[in-house]
Amino acid sequence: MKLFDVYPINDITIVRARGSHVWDDQDREYLDMYGGHAVISIGHTHPHYVQRITEQLNRVGFYSNSIRIPLQEELAEKLGQVSGKTDYQLFLCNSGAEANENALKLASFHTGRSKVVAFRKAFHGRTSLAVAATDNPNIVAPVNRTENIIFLPLNDEQALEDCFRAQGDQIAAVIIEGIQGVGGIHIATDDFLRSIRRLCDQFGSVYIADSVQCGYGRSGQFFSHDFAGVPADIYSMAKGMGNGFPVGGIMIAPHLPPKHFMLGTTFGGNHLACAAALAVLEVMDSEKLMDNAGQKGALIMQALREMPGLQNVRGRGLMIGFDVPETLKSLKKDLLQKGRIFTGEAKPNVIRLLPSLALNEEDTTHFLDTLRQQISEILNTPNN
Ligand SMILES: Cc1ncc(COP(=O)(O)O)c(C=O)c1O
Repeated sequence: MKLFDVYPINDITIVRARGSHVWDDQDREYLDMYGGHAVISIGHTHPHYVQRITEQLNRVGFYSNSIRIPLQEELAEKLGQVSGKTDYQLFLCNSGAEANENALKLASFHTGRSKVVAFRKAFHGRTSLAVAATDNPNIVAPVNRTENIIFLPLNDEQALEDCFRAQGDQIAAVIIEGIQGVGGIHIATDDFLRSIRRLCDQFGSVYIADSVQCGYGRSGQFFSHDFAGVPADIYSMAKGMGNGFPVGGIMIAPHLPPKHFMLGTTFGGNHLACAAALAVLEVMDSEKLMDNAGQKGALIMQALREMPGLQNVRGRGLMIGFDVPETLKSLKKDLLQKGRIFTGEAKPNVIRLLPSLALNEEDTTHFLDTLRQQISEILNTPNN
């Protein structure tokens, strides 16, 4: 059987990994400034993480949600402590799309309404409602198309206000990434998030903070939406939550009550997933990784702003993007093939940096030196 060919891939086979480094099957070492798409939060194969999952696997890996799973309660407790949102409730699932799907569904159940406000260039996942709220017609199948999603320009307070004035009584939810990731690293401004909070309060709608990529400490705050100083009603989480183990979830404000069977999942919150997620939070806490993300991110962004050619350096913490002009269009490829550094991209010309939150000083310096060198090689090539 052949694989269903949906991914354009780099011809590299990774066989082992440690911290911010991965090795291929020729034993070539790469620096991972991509974190497997913002997933690696505490570093590859962190010893505490490996030990906690291994021990759990030797005890019990899975049983269904029909029994008590104290690890889920332990995870909820730790998540409340690290995120600062101790009075929220936790529902566990398996991926980012599923987290958003459940968040949107819960908002609709709660309000009895069916309209959702989403934003241009947003990415919320590939399941039915999440993909309908994603601003990319190429990945929305005919069956996913719905009149229920209203797309507005990001950070346009007037458009948001007008939309609520016209149909606020039908709006179940506003869903927004604190920093758009797939869309190319665009920050939702603090004022805009405050307007969302205010209008949701005024019209009884639910504010959903999609924190799948920008959350879990990546921005230097636990949720990047926290910079605005106002809480969301639901936070969706996934990528960094399990450091590669598939686990997602939503954190739900206390005023949204649960009802039996309104949400559910077979695999979500299983013993192994909880062990992985707990190990991540324990390491984030003990190694102060949120602080590290904030510091290393500021350092990298300052250095990027001083490099020739790079444009519109932007981001928060270790979620960073910059535009690459036509003259430097080979930069991402050169970084990988000549510099042995993985980075991410966003169409048409954005390089994204999404490394582990444990990125250390040596790797930061190595990244910046290699980037400088690759830029200078391209710029000094005749006929460029
Ligand atoms: C902001 C955001 N939301 C949701 C998703 C979907 O997550 P998953 O691929 O785990 O379903 C992604 C994935 O890139 C994302 O960046």
